[in-house]
Amino acid sequence: MSEVRPNVTMIAAVGRNGVIGDGETMPWHLSEDLKFFKRTTMGHPMVMGRRTFDSMGALPGRRSVVVTRSRDWSHDGVEVAHSVEEALDLVAGDGEVFVVGGGEVYRLALPYVARLVITEVDQSPEGSVTFPEIDPEDWVETSREARTGFAWVTYERSSRPPEAR
Ligand SMILES: NC(=O)c1ccc[n+]([C@@H]2O[C@H](COP(=O)([O-])OP(=O)(O)OC[C@H]3O[C@@H](n4cnc5c(N)ncnc54)[C@H](OP(=O)(O)O)[C@@H]3O)[C@@H](O)[C@H]2O)c1
Repeated sequence: MSEVRPNVTMIAAVGRNGVIGDGETMPWHLSEDLKFFKRTTMGHPMVMGRRTFDSMGALPGRRSVVVTRSRDWSHDGVEVAHSVEEALDLVAGDGEVFVVGGGEVYRLALPYVARLVITEVDQSPEGSVTFPEIDPEDWVETSREARTGFAWVTYERSSRPPEAR
C-alpha cells in the first residue's frame, strides 16, 4: 500500500553533486532562491530536522514542526515531534506541508512525499550532507525555470504502476 501523502512537498537546494550542506550551514548564498523559498512556503506548515532548525531558527508566518529524538528538547514558537510520521500527522489537515530538510529528514520523509521542488544549483561544493537520489523511475519532471547559476525544477511522483516500469 502506498505511503504517499498527496499534500506533502519537499523543498531543497541541491548541488550538482547532491550536496546540500556541511551539517551546519548551506554551501551557497542565493538571495533570489531564499526569496523563492519564502514565498513558496509562506503560510504553510514546515517539517524539519533539529539540526536544520538550529541553522535557521523559527521562521515567521509558518508553523514549524521540529523532529528530534530528544524527549526534553523544546523551543518557543515551534512544535516538536519524535518521528517524521508524528510530524506529518501533526500537520495533516493543514493544507500543503513542506519538508524543508536536512539530509536525514529528507531521507526519512521521502516515501511520504508527492512532489519535489528542487533548486538545482550549478555548483559542486564540498559538504557531508546530501539530498537522496531522485530516481527517474519514481519521479517525473513537470516544470523547469532556469535562472543564472541555478534552476527551479518541480518533480511529481510517477503515476506509472511498478509493473509498467
Ligand atoms: N540545501 C538545502 O536546501 C538545505 C535545507 C535544509 C538543510 N540543509 C543543510 O542540511 C544540514 C543539516 O542536515 P542534517 O542531515 O545534518 O540534519 P537534519 O536532517 O536537519 O536533522 C537531523 C536531526 O533530526 C533528528 N532525527 C533524525 N532522525 C530521527 C528519527 N528517526 N527520529 C527522531 N528524530 C530524528 C535528530 O535530532 P536530535 O539530534 O535532536 O535527536 C537529528 O540530529 C545543514 O548543513 C543545513 O544547512 C540544506
